[in-house]
Amino acid sequence: MPSTCSGFGFGLAPILFLSLVVACAARPIYPLPSKVSRGNRLPLQTSRPYNIAHRGSNGEIPEETSAAYMRAIEEGADFIETDILSSKDGVLICFHDVTLDDTTDIADHKEFANRKRTYDVQGVNTTGFFTVDFTLTELKLLRVKQRYSFRDQQYNGMFPIITFEEFISIAIDAPRVVGIYPEIKNPILINQHVKWPDGKKFEDKFVGILKKYGYRGSYMSENWLKQPLFIQSFAPTSLVYISNLTDSPKIFLIDDITIPTQDTNQSYWEITSDAYLDYIKDYVVGIGPWKDTIVPVGRNYLQMPSNLVSRAHSHDLQVHPYTYRNENKFLHFDFHQDPYEEYDYWLNKIGVDGLFTDFTGSLHNFQEWTSPLPKDGGDDNSASKLLHKVALLISSYKN
Ligand SMILES: *[C@@H]1O[C@H](CO)[C@@H](O)[C@H](O)[C@H]1NC(C)=O
Ligand SMILES: *[C@@H]1O[C@H](CO)[C@@H](O)[C@H](O)[C@H]1NC(C)=O
Ligand SMILES: *[C@@H]1O[C@H](CO)[C@@H](O)[C@H](O)[C@H]1NC(C)=O
Repeated sequence: MPSTCSGFGFGLAPILFLSLVVACAARPIYPLPSKVSRGNRLPLQTSRPYNIAHRGSNGEIPEETSAAYMRAIEEGADFIETDILSSKDGVLICFHDVTLDDTTDIADHKEFANRKRTYDVQGVNTTGFFTVDFTLTELKLLRVKQRYSFRDQQYNGMFPIITFEEFISIAIDAPRVVGIYPEIKNPILINQHVKWPDGKKFEDKFVGILKKYGYRGSYMSENWLKQPLFIQSFAPTSLVYISNLTDSPKIFLIDDITIPTQDTNQSYWEITSDAYLDYIKDYVVGIGPWKDTIVPVGRNYLQMPSNLVSRAHSHDLQVHPYTYRNENKFLHFDFHQDPYEEYDYWLNKIGVDGLFTDFTGSLHNFQEWTSPLPKDGGDDNSASKLLHKVALLISSYKN
């Protein structure tokens, strides 16, 4: 990676990290993948549940920006998570909402004031500035801002929207192996509004970009471990469709119990039934449910957990719930305002396989304290060193 804008550097003081981010903000920060020699990088850890950095380290830095992703990598993310939408001219971008209103400075751009539209988004008339009405060049004029008023606002206006390819370059150029976890977002809306040459669909473009950068291979295969990837979607038809295009592992996202699937209009109860898990397991390696549907909540206290996790596991499906957030307003009373208690509950009582978190650093610290990884990647050499240490301990105890 180019030295001036690296910004990685584990162990850098936060202040130094932030100043690097700021210094880099004015110009394109990330080269496309990747001319940089990668050498022998620390592999993805696969021995404990995955730390999935939800939209980057968005608890600290505005979501889906390069700085948020770099911060998440610095803090120990196993996977950086992103939502993929499209520009008007068919370039795939990292952005969560179908409209630009809540997380960019679009309101300050008077030149675009006439672009406001109302479209049917999954049966709801939605008004705003839609990404699909702006070319990539226009989108790059905008700057991203923090979604929540109670989070740090100091980075508002600094970072541009990034493309899917720029996102991939961040993962590929990371100083250790970091996976990516992109979502095929709102495929019905995108395919209605954006047309690609040769009759290609959003899903074709999405998989095409992954393949262009070498992402392939089934879960835990040699290729997968080199460039780990989970593809996620709330739309079963997209997942089934792309299962013909790539063997990369896929995760089926499951929304709140009140919300039907966006493409097939199936209820929560239908898609979490044993019969459906049995069907979908041919296409996906796991499910990504909203955590409050696994353990329902009443008056901000946890209720009796459902059996969804054990039923998913019995179908050989992983469970990666979303979204874990440090702030008290998101923590149920059972956790005594302590996010570590929440992680302890989900990791050790419920037994999930990955967690989407807004605060990758907190989850990483908790896991390092409670189930540390061997520092040198756990090769034979370290195992024998450890045995040696244990032998010494035992012999000193005997004496
Ligand atoms: C959306 O708006 C259109 C035009 O005003 C209207 O015909 C339609 O019924 C509305 N749809 C919904 C779901 O409210
Ligand atoms: C997958 O490909 C097969 C063979 O070309 C085809 O019959 C099938 O309809 C395709 N499935 C989907 C979901 O596109
Ligand atoms: C979706 O399913 C619900 C419940 O079965 C039904 O009332 C609704 O009309 C359906 N919506 C669409 C768009 O098919």
